Amino acid sequence: MTQHETHKLIGESASFLNALEQISQVASLNKPVLIIGERGTGKELFAERLHFLSSNWDNTLIKLNCSALPETLLESELFGHEAGSFTGATKRHLGRFEQADGGTLFLDEIANMSLRLQEKLLRVVEYGEFERVGGRETLSVNVRIVGAANMDLPLMVEQGKFRADLLDRLSFDVITLPPLRFREDDIPLLSDFFATGMIKELKRDFFPGFTDESMHHLVNYAWPGNLRELKNVIERAVYRCQIDTPIDHIDFDPFESPFRPLHNDSTHQADETIVEQEVEVKQEEVKKRDIESLPHDFKAYIQQHEIELLQRALDQYRFNQRKTADALGLSYHQIRAYLRKYPSINSKID
Ligand SMILES: Nc1ncnc2c1ncn2[C@@H]1O[C@H](COP(=O)(O)OP(=O)(O)OP(=O)(O)O)[C@@H](O)[C@H]1O
Ligand SMILES: [Mg+2]
Repeated sequence: MTQHETHKLIGESASFLNALEQISQVASLNKPVLIIGERGTGKELFAERLHFLSSNWDNTLIKLNCSALPETLLESELFGHEAGSFTGATKRHLGRFEQADGGTLFLDEIANMSLRLQEKLLRVVEYGEFERVGGRETLSVNVRIVGAANMDLPLMVEQGKFRADLLDRLSFDVITLPPLRFREDDIPLLSDFFATGMIKELKRDFFPGFTDESMHHLVNYAWPGNLRELKNVIERAVYRCQIDTPIDHIDFDPFESPFRPLHNDSTHQADETIVEQEVEVKQEEVKKRDIESLPHDFKAYIQQHEIELLQRALDQYRFNQRKTADALGLSYHQIRAYLRKYPSINSKID
Protein backbone atom coordinates (compact mmCIF):
# COMPACT_ATOMS: atom_id res chain seq x y z
CA MET A 1 0.00 0.00 0.00
CA THR A 2 1.40 3.41 -0.88
CA GLN A 3 1.23 6.41 1.44
CA HIS A 4 -1.80 7.81 -0.39
CA GLU A 5 -3.93 4.67 -0.50
CA THR A 6 -6.18 3.64 2.35
CA HIS A 7 -7.48 0.25 3.36
CA LYS A 8 -10.94 -0.52 2.08
CA LEU A 9 -13.70 0.21 4.55
CA ILE A 10 -16.47 -2.30 3.95
CA GLY A 11 -20.05 -1.91 5.17
CA GLU A 12 -23.52 -0.77 4.19
CA SER A 13 -25.37 -0.65 7.50
CA ALA A 14 -26.85 2.71 8.48
CA SER A 15 -24.75 3.16 11.63
CA PHE A 16 -21.53 2.47 9.71
CA LEU A 17 -22.44 4.76 6.81
CA ASN A 18 -23.32 7.44 9.31
CA ALA A 19 -19.87 7.28 10.90
CA LEU A 20 -18.28 7.35 7.44
CA GLU A 21 -20.29 10.42 6.54
CA GLN A 22 -19.23 12.13 9.78
CA ILE A 23 -15.55 11.43 9.02
CA SER A 24 -15.88 12.85 5.50
CA GLN A 25 -17.54 16.00 6.80
CA VAL A 26 -15.04 16.76 9.53
CA ALA A 27 -11.96 15.76 7.51
CA SER A 28 -11.51 19.10 5.75
CA LEU A 29 -11.48 21.11 8.99
CA ASN A 30 -8.14 21.41 10.72
CA LYS A 31 -9.64 20.50 14.12
CA PRO A 32 -8.97 17.71 16.61
CA VAL A 33 -11.24 14.70 16.37
CA LEU A 34 -11.82 11.75 18.68
CA ILE A 35 -12.67 8.31 17.37
CA ILE A 36 -14.30 6.15 20.02
CA GLY A 37 -15.14 2.49 19.72
CA GLU A 38 -14.77 -0.94 21.27
CA ARG A 39 -11.64 -2.90 20.41
CA GLY A 40 -11.43 -3.97 16.79
CA THR A 41 -14.19 -1.66 15.50
CA GLY A 42 -11.94 0.04 12.94
CA LYS A 43 -10.70 3.14 14.79
CA GLU A 44 -7.30 3.11 13.11
CA LEU A 45 -8.81 2.61 9.66
CA PHE A 46 -11.17 5.52 10.25
CA ALA A 47 -8.26 7.70 11.38
CA GLU A 48 -6.43 6.85 8.14
CA ARG A 49 -9.53 7.68 6.12
CA LEU A 50 -9.83 11.00 7.91
CA HIS A 51 -6.21 11.89 7.14
CA PHE A 52 -6.46 11.00 3.47
CA LEU A 53 -9.66 13.02 3.06
CA SER A 54 -8.13 16.06 4.77
CA SER A 55 -6.33 18.93 3.11
CA ASN A 56 -3.08 17.60 4.63
CA TRP A 57 -3.45 14.25 2.86
CA ASP A 58 -0.12 14.62 1.04
CA ASN A 59 1.73 15.26 4.31
CA THR A 60 2.67 12.66 6.86
CA LEU A 61 0.31 10.61 8.98
CA ILE A 62 2.14 9.62 12.14
CA LYS A 63 0.72 7.06 14.56
CA LEU A 64 1.58 6.54 18.19
CA ASN A 65 0.02 4.13 20.68
CA CYS A 66 -0.08 5.93 24.03
CA SER A 67 -0.41 2.74 26.05
CA ALA A 68 2.54 0.95 24.48
CA LEU A 69 5.28 2.90 26.28
CA PRO A 70 6.14 3.87 29.84
CA GLU A 71 5.44 7.55 30.63
CA THR A 72 8.95 8.98 30.17
CA LEU A 73 9.52 7.15 26.89
CA LEU A 74 6.13 8.26 25.62
CA GLU A 75 7.03 11.82 26.54
CA SER A 76 10.21 11.76 24.50
CA GLU A 77 8.44 9.96 21.65
CA LEU A 78 5.82 12.70 21.54
CA PHE A 79 7.93 15.79 22.13
CA GLY A 80 11.45 14.57 21.28
CA HIS A 81 14.53 15.08 23.43
CA GLU A 82 17.85 16.87 23.39
CA ALA A 83 21.16 15.01 23.53
CA GLY A 84 22.13 14.33 27.15
CA SER A 85 18.63 14.95 28.53
CA PHE A 86 18.67 11.53 30.19
CA THR A 87 20.98 8.51 30.42
CA GLY A 88 21.19 6.95 27.00
CA ALA A 89 20.02 10.08 25.12
CA THR A 90 23.18 10.43 23.06
CA LYS A 91 21.63 12.32 20.14
CA ARG A 92 18.83 14.81 19.64
CA HIS A 93 15.61 12.95 18.86
CA LEU A 94 12.73 14.51 16.95
CA GLY A 95 9.38 13.72 18.50
CA ARG A 96 6.23 12.65 16.70
CA PHE A 97 4.85 16.19 16.84
CA GLU A 98 7.80 17.48 14.84
CA GLN A 99 7.64 14.53 12.46
CA ALA A 100 3.93 15.13 11.87
CA ASP A 101 4.28 18.89 11.27
CA GLY A 102 1.88 19.84 8.49
CA GLY A 103 0.12 16.47 8.71
CA THR A 104 -1.82 14.34 11.16
CA LEU A 105 -0.81 12.74 14.45
CA PHE A 106 -2.93 9.73 15.40
CA LEU A 107 -2.79 9.18 19.16
CA ASP A 108 -4.15 5.71 19.77
CA GLU A 109 -5.42 4.64 23.20
CA ILE A 110 -5.24 8.23 24.38
CA ALA A 111 -7.20 7.38 27.54
CA ASN A 112 -4.08 5.70 28.90
CA MET A 113 -1.94 8.82 28.85
CA SER A 114 -0.82 10.00 32.31
CA LEU A 115 -2.30 13.23 33.71
CA ARG A 116 1.13 14.88 33.52
CA LEU A 117 1.47 14.16 29.80
CA GLN A 118 -2.12 15.19 29.24
CA GLU A 119 -1.17 18.59 30.61
CA LYS A 120 1.72 18.88 28.14
CA LEU A 121 -0.53 17.72 25.33
CA LEU A 122 -3.09 20.36 26.24
CA ARG A 123 -0.56 23.10 25.51
CA VAL A 124 0.26 21.71 22.07
CA VAL A 125 -3.41 21.30 21.22
CA GLU A 126 -4.13 24.84 22.38
CA TYR A 127 -1.12 26.76 21.07
CA GLY A 128 0.81 24.31 18.90
CA GLU A 129 3.83 24.86 21.16
CA PHE A 130 6.12 22.63 23.20
CA GLU A 131 9.74 22.01 24.17
CA ARG A 132 11.76 18.86 23.58
CA VAL A 133 12.57 16.95 26.78
CA GLY A 134 15.67 18.60 28.24
CA GLY A 135 15.39 21.51 25.78
CA ARG A 136 14.69 25.22 26.25
CA GLU A 137 13.74 26.22 22.74
CA THR A 138 9.97 26.52 22.20
CA LEU A 139 8.95 24.81 19.00
CA SER A 140 5.82 25.53 16.99
CA VAL A 141 4.00 22.95 14.90
CA ASN A 142 0.83 22.71 12.90
CA VAL A 143 -0.47 19.19 13.51
CA ARG A 144 -3.98 17.81 13.20
CA ILE A 145 -4.61 15.55 16.21
CA VAL A 146 -6.83 12.52 15.93
CA GLY A 147 -7.25 10.59 19.17
CA ALA A 148 -8.72 7.14 19.62
CA ALA A 149 -10.08 5.44 22.73
CA ASN A 150 -12.17 2.47 23.69
CA MET A 151 -13.10 4.01 27.03
CA ASP A 152 -15.81 6.39 28.14
CA LEU A 153 -13.73 9.58 28.36
CA PRO A 154 -16.37 11.80 30.03
CA LEU A 155 -16.67 9.15 32.75
CA MET A 156 -12.89 9.18 33.14
CA VAL A 157 -13.07 12.95 33.60
CA GLU A 158 -15.61 12.44 36.40
CA GLN A 159 -13.28 9.91 37.98
CA GLY A 160 -10.36 12.34 37.79
CA LYS A 161 -8.46 10.13 35.31
CA PHE A 162 -8.70 12.41 32.29
CA ARG A 163 -8.37 16.19 32.15
CA ALA A 164 -11.65 17.95 31.42
CA ASP A 165 -9.91 20.85 29.65
CA LEU A 166 -8.02 18.47 27.35
CA LEU A 167 -11.17 16.52 26.55
CA ASP A 168 -12.98 19.77 25.70
CA ARG A 169 -10.29 20.66 23.21
CA LEU A 170 -9.85 17.23 21.66
CA SER A 171 -13.54 16.64 21.20
CA PHE A 172 -14.33 19.21 18.55
CA ASP A 173 -16.08 16.28 16.98
CA VAL A 174 -16.45 12.74 18.29
CA ILE A 175 -17.09 9.80 16.02
CA THR A 176 -18.33 6.69 17.80
CA LEU A 177 -17.99 3.52 15.78
CA PRO A 178 -20.75 0.90 16.03
CA PRO A 179 -19.78 -2.52 17.41
CA LEU A 180 -20.20 -5.35 14.92
CA ARG A 181 -23.16 -6.81 16.84
CA PHE A 182 -25.10 -3.69 15.83
CA ARG A 183 -24.13 -4.22 12.19
CA GLU A 184 -25.57 -7.71 11.63
CA ASP A 185 -26.41 -6.91 8.01
CA ASP A 186 -22.74 -6.24 7.29
CA ILE A 187 -21.53 -9.62 8.51
CA PRO A 188 -22.09 -11.55 5.23
CA LEU A 189 -20.45 -8.74 3.27
CA LEU A 190 -17.44 -8.50 5.57
CA SER A 191 -17.11 -12.28 5.76
CA ASP A 192 -16.90 -12.50 1.96
CA PHE A 193 -14.42 -9.64 1.88
CA PHE A 194 -12.09 -11.20 4.46
CA ALA A 195 -12.51 -14.66 2.90
CA THR A 196 -11.59 -13.51 -0.61
CA GLY A 197 -8.58 -11.65 0.81
CA MET A 198 -7.42 -14.92 2.37
CA ILE A 199 -8.11 -16.88 -0.83
CA LYS A 200 -5.77 -14.48 -2.67
CA GLU A 201 -3.15 -14.80 0.02
CA LEU A 202 -3.34 -18.60 -0.29
CA LYS A 203 -3.12 -18.24 -4.11
CA ARG A 204 -6.28 -20.30 -4.55
CA ASP A 205 -8.51 -19.73 -7.58
CA PHE A 206 -11.93 -19.35 -6.08
CA PHE A 207 -13.88 -19.12 -2.86
CA PRO A 208 -16.58 -21.80 -2.42
CA GLY A 209 -18.61 -19.63 0.02
CA PHE A 210 -20.30 -20.46 3.32
CA THR A 211 -23.18 -22.86 3.97
CA ASP A 212 -26.39 -21.18 5.18
CA GLU A 213 -25.90 -22.74 8.57
CA SER A 214 -22.37 -21.44 9.07
CA MET A 215 -23.47 -17.97 7.91
CA HIS A 216 -26.31 -18.16 10.43
CA HIS A 217 -23.77 -18.82 13.22
CA LEU A 218 -21.60 -15.94 12.02
CA VAL A 219 -24.52 -13.51 12.01
CA ASN A 220 -25.76 -14.61 15.44
CA TYR A 221 -22.45 -14.50 17.28
CA ALA A 222 -21.88 -11.46 19.53
CA TRP A 223 -18.34 -10.57 18.27
CA PRO A 224 -16.79 -9.07 21.40
CA GLY A 225 -13.57 -8.50 19.41
CA ASN A 226 -15.51 -6.92 16.54
CA LEU A 227 -14.02 -6.74 13.02
CA ARG A 228 -10.59 -7.96 14.06
CA GLU A 229 -12.14 -11.07 15.56
CA LEU A 230 -14.34 -11.61 12.50
CA LYS A 231 -11.31 -11.29 10.23
CA ASN A 232 -9.38 -13.88 12.25
CA VAL A 233 -12.29 -16.30 12.45
CA ILE A 234 -12.94 -16.08 8.69
CA GLU A 235 -9.31 -16.32 7.66
CA ARG A 236 -8.84 -19.37 9.87
CA ALA A 237 -11.99 -20.99 8.48
CA VAL A 238 -10.77 -20.36 4.92
CA TYR A 239 -7.30 -21.76 5.29
CA ARG A 240 -8.64 -24.85 7.07
CA CYS A 241 -11.47 -25.55 4.62
CA GLN A 242 -11.52 -27.89 1.62
CA ILE A 243 -10.58 -26.04 -1.57
CA ASP A 244 -13.89 -26.74 -3.33
CA THR A 245 -16.48 -27.25 -0.56
CA PRO A 246 -18.43 -24.40 1.08
CA ILE A 247 -17.37 -23.67 4.65
CA ASP A 248 -19.70 -25.62 6.93
CA HIS A 249 -17.93 -25.22 10.25
CA ILE A 250 -16.83 -22.11 12.11
CA ASP A 251 -14.38 -22.25 15.01
CA PHE A 252 -14.97 -19.13 17.03
CA ASP A 253 -12.43 -19.93 19.69
CA PRO A 254 -9.02 -21.18 18.56
CA PHE A 255 -8.20 -22.08 22.17
CA GLU A 256 -11.05 -24.57 22.33
CA SER A 257 -9.51 -27.99 22.93
CA PRO A 258 -10.24 -31.02 25.12
CA PHE A 259 -6.67 -30.62 26.39
CA ARG A 260 -6.96 -26.95 27.27
CA PRO A 261 -5.43 -26.26 30.70
CA LEU A 262 -8.37 -25.57 32.98
CA HIS A 263 -6.80 -23.12 35.36
CA ASN A 264 -3.73 -21.03 35.90
CA ASP A 265 -4.05 -21.69 39.60
CA SER A 266 -3.22 -25.28 40.66
CA THR A 267 -5.28 -24.98 43.89
CA HIS A 268 -8.48 -24.41 41.92
CA GLN A 269 -11.31 -26.93 42.46
CA ALA A 270 -12.38 -28.97 39.42
CA ASP A 271 -16.10 -28.35 39.96
CA GLU A 272 -15.60 -24.61 39.68
CA THR A 273 -15.00 -24.57 35.94
CA ILE A 274 -18.26 -22.70 35.49
CA VAL A 275 -16.76 -19.53 36.95
CA GLU A 276 -13.57 -19.63 34.88
CA GLN A 277 -14.20 -16.70 32.54
CA GLU A 278 -15.91 -14.70 35.23
CA VAL A 279 -12.93 -15.02 37.53
CA GLU A 280 -10.69 -13.54 34.84
CA VAL A 281 -12.90 -10.47 34.49
CA LYS A 282 -13.10 -10.11 38.24
CA GLN A 283 -9.37 -10.44 38.78
CA GLU A 284 -8.92 -7.47 36.45
CA GLU A 285 -11.52 -5.47 38.34
CA VAL A 286 -10.13 -6.39 41.73
CA LYS A 287 -6.64 -5.33 40.59
CA LYS A 288 -7.97 -1.91 39.68
CA ARG A 289 -9.39 -1.27 43.16
CA ASP A 290 -7.10 0.10 45.82
CA ILE A 291 -6.06 -1.88 48.81
CA GLU A 292 -8.47 -0.21 51.27
CA SER A 293 -11.48 -1.26 49.25
CA LEU A 294 -10.75 -4.98 49.36
CA PRO A 295 -14.00 -6.81 50.13
CA HIS A 296 -14.54 -8.30 53.59
CA ASP A 297 -16.67 -11.11 52.23
CA PHE A 298 -14.94 -12.31 49.08
CA LYS A 299 -17.63 -14.81 48.04
CA ALA A 300 -20.54 -12.41 48.48
CA TYR A 301 -18.60 -9.77 46.59
CA ILE A 302 -17.90 -12.09 43.65
CA GLN A 303 -21.48 -13.33 43.56
CA GLN A 304 -22.81 -9.79 43.51
CA HIS A 305 -20.55 -9.06 40.53
CA GLU A 306 -21.73 -12.18 38.75
CA ILE A 307 -25.35 -11.19 39.25
CA GLU A 308 -24.74 -7.64 38.03
CA LEU A 309 -22.78 -8.76 34.97
CA LEU A 310 -25.32 -11.39 33.99
CA GLN A 311 -28.24 -9.01 34.44
CA ARG A 312 -26.50 -6.33 32.40
CA ALA A 313 -25.70 -8.77 29.60
CA LEU A 314 -29.22 -10.23 29.57
CA ASP A 315 -30.71 -6.73 29.37
CA GLN A 316 -28.32 -5.83 26.54
CA TYR A 317 -29.26 -8.93 24.53
CA ARG A 318 -32.96 -8.50 25.23
CA PHE A 319 -33.05 -11.65 27.35
CA ASN A 320 -31.85 -13.87 24.52
CA GLN A 321 -29.93 -16.42 26.58
CA ARG A 322 -27.91 -17.84 23.70
CA LYS A 323 -26.65 -14.45 22.58
CA THR A 324 -25.95 -13.47 26.18
CA ALA A 325 -23.94 -16.65 26.69
CA ASP A 326 -21.95 -15.98 23.48
CA ALA A 327 -21.23 -12.42 24.53
CA LEU A 328 -19.87 -13.59 27.88
CA GLY A 329 -17.89 -16.46 26.41
CA LEU A 330 -20.10 -18.99 28.20
CA SER A 331 -21.86 -22.04 26.82
CA TYR A 332 -25.66 -22.17 26.80
CA HIS A 333 -25.48 -24.86 29.46
CA GLN A 334 -23.31 -22.64 31.66
CA ILE A 335 -25.63 -19.65 31.49
CA ARG A 336 -28.61 -21.84 32.33
CA ALA A 337 -26.70 -23.09 35.38
CA TYR A 338 -26.07 -19.50 36.47
CA LEU A 339 -29.74 -18.62 36.16
CA ARG A 340 -30.62 -21.57 38.36
CA LYS A 341 -27.95 -20.51 40.85
CA TYR A 342 -29.25 -16.92 41.03
CA PRO A 343 -33.05 -16.98 40.84
CA SER A 344 -33.12 -13.23 41.60
CA ILE A 345 -31.84 -12.50 38.09
CA ASN A 346 -34.56 -11.34 35.77
CA SER A 347 -34.05 -13.55 32.70
CA LYS A 348 -37.31 -12.91 30.85
CA ILE A 349 -39.15 -9.90 29.54
CA ASP A 350 -41.89 -9.21 32.14
N1 LIG B 1 -15.08 -1.41 7.70
C1 LIG B 1 -14.06 -2.26 7.58
N2 LIG B 1 -13.89 -2.94 6.43
C2 LIG B 1 -12.89 -3.84 6.30
N3 LIG B 1 -12.01 -4.12 7.27
C3 LIG B 1 -12.12 -3.47 8.43
C4 LIG B 1 -13.14 -2.50 8.65
N4 LIG B 1 -12.99 -2.00 9.90
C5 LIG B 1 -11.95 -2.65 10.45
N5 LIG B 1 -11.41 -3.53 9.57
C6 LIG B 1 -10.29 -4.45 9.85
O1 LIG B 1 -10.47 -4.91 11.18
C7 LIG B 1 -9.24 -4.91 11.91
C8 LIG B 1 -9.35 -3.97 13.09
O2 LIG B 1 -9.40 -2.61 12.65
P1 LIG B 1 -8.63 -1.45 13.44
O3 LIG B 1 -7.23 -1.87 13.79
O4 LIG B 1 -8.79 -0.20 12.67
O5 LIG B 1 -9.53 -1.43 14.75
P2 LIG B 1 -9.27 -0.65 16.12
O6 LIG B 1 -10.60 -0.13 16.55
O7 LIG B 1 -8.16 0.34 15.96
O8 LIG B 1 -8.85 -1.83 17.08
P3 LIG B 1 -8.09 -1.75 18.52
O9 LIG B 1 -9.03 -1.07 19.48
O10 LIG B 1 -7.91 -3.17 18.90
O11 LIG B 1 -6.83 -0.99 18.30
C9 LIG B 1 -8.17 -4.50 10.91
O12 LIG B 1 -7.61 -5.67 10.36
C10 LIG B 1 -8.93 -3.74 9.85
O13 LIG B 1 -8.28 -3.83 8.62
MG1 LIG C 1 -6.32 0.42 17.02
